[in-house]
Order: sequence, then C-alpha cells, then structure tokens
Amino acid sequence: MNESNNLRATRRGFVTTAALTAVSYNRVLGANDRIGLGFIGFGLIGKQHVADFKKFTDVNLVALSETYRPRLQQGLEYMGNPNARGYSDFRRMYDDKNVDAVIVATPDHWHCLLTVMACAAGKDVYVEKPMTSGAVRNRDGEVGLVGNCSQTALS
Ligand SMILES: NC(=O)c1ccc[n+]([C@@H]2O[C@H](COP(=O)([O-])OP(=O)(O)OC[C@H]3O[C@@H](n4cnc5c(N)ncnc54)[C@H](O)[C@@H]3O)[C@@H](O)[C@H]2O)c1
Repeated sequence: MNESNNLRATRRGFVTTAALTAVSYNRVLGANDRIGLGFIGFGLIGKQHVADFKKFTDVNLVALSETYRPRLQQGLEYMGNPNARGYSDFRRMYDDKNVDAVIVATPDHWHCLLTVMACAAGKDVYVEKPMTSGAVRNRDGEVGLVGNCSQTALS
C-alpha cells in the first residue's frame, strides 16, 4: 500500500471508530436514570474530578463549562462522551436540563456565586474548598460574612 492509500485507510478507520464510539457510549453510559454531571473549570483539580467520575458507572458526564476555549475543547475530549456539551458561560450550562449536578473547580472567588446560582437552578453541587475567598460585597456595598454568601450573592 502506498502512502496515500495508507492515509485513506487510516481516515476510514478513524471515522468508523468514532461512529462506533458515539453509539456504544450511548448504549453503555447514556441511560436516563444516571446522574448527569456538569463540570465547571478544567484546570488541575477539575481534570482530576473528571478522571475520578469517569470511573463511576452511575453517572453520565454531560457538560463542561470552561472560560479558556482551548481547555474547553481539551476537556470535552478528555470526558470521552461525544454527546457532552461545552459552555464558555456557566449560566448556559445551568439552563441545560441534562445537568443534574455540578462540580465546581474554578478559582476561589467564583465558588460562592457558582454554588448559589446552581442551587437556584435546581442543581446539586460539589464545590472545591474554600466556599468563598473572604468577605464579599453586594451591589449596595454591604459586606457579608464568610458563610453568609448566599444572601450577598443574591441581593
Ligand atoms: N491545586 C491544588 O492543589 C488544589 C487542591 C485543593 C483544592 N484546590 C482548589 O481547587 C480549585 C481549582 O484549583 P486549580 O488548581 O484546579 O485551578 P486552575 O487555575 O488550574 O483551574 C481553574 C480553571 O477554571 C477556569 N475558570 C475560571 N473561571 C471560570 C468560570 N467562571 N467558569 C468556567 N471556568 C472558569 C480557568 O480557566 C481554569 O482552567 C481552587 O478553588 C483551589 O483552591 C486546589
């Protein structure tokens, strides 16, 4: 086989494999009664969470929100679900009815808002420590205490 035949054979093989992967993923992991997980942040810790949850058979890795686009693409590939959706804006992911629970692994200053808004959207949440990076200020300039961030984030 010359080089161009070889290239065609490789491409055909890749397309077939990719199609089978999508079909088999749905059959193996796509049951509706599994918990749909959405990940926020695909850095050092976020990637570790994806790796851990990939080992569970009762969850479906359905979405990823990441502000840095190359990492969003990288994360979606790493998740291994060809049907998973990527979001650069977490609010769009919170609108996704396939997402039952979210795993927050962004920098600290996002934790409070992402958690409160996830709960408001009806999602269960796992959030990395710390819950908040300190006292937070609402739009009126009032300072809230650590642990009281739900009120300040929503007001
Ligand atoms: N690194 C550690 O050893 C370690 C250990 C325990 C806990 N933590 C905690 O885990 C969290 C994440 O740490 P890390 O080291 O993975 O950070 P990281 O900087 O490696 O990753 C954070 C990711 O979140 C993304 N991001 C930022 N804001 C976002 C937003 N609004 N929506 C979506 N994506 C967003 C960034 O682009 C980045 O890819 C931190 O709160 C940290 O305190 C870290």
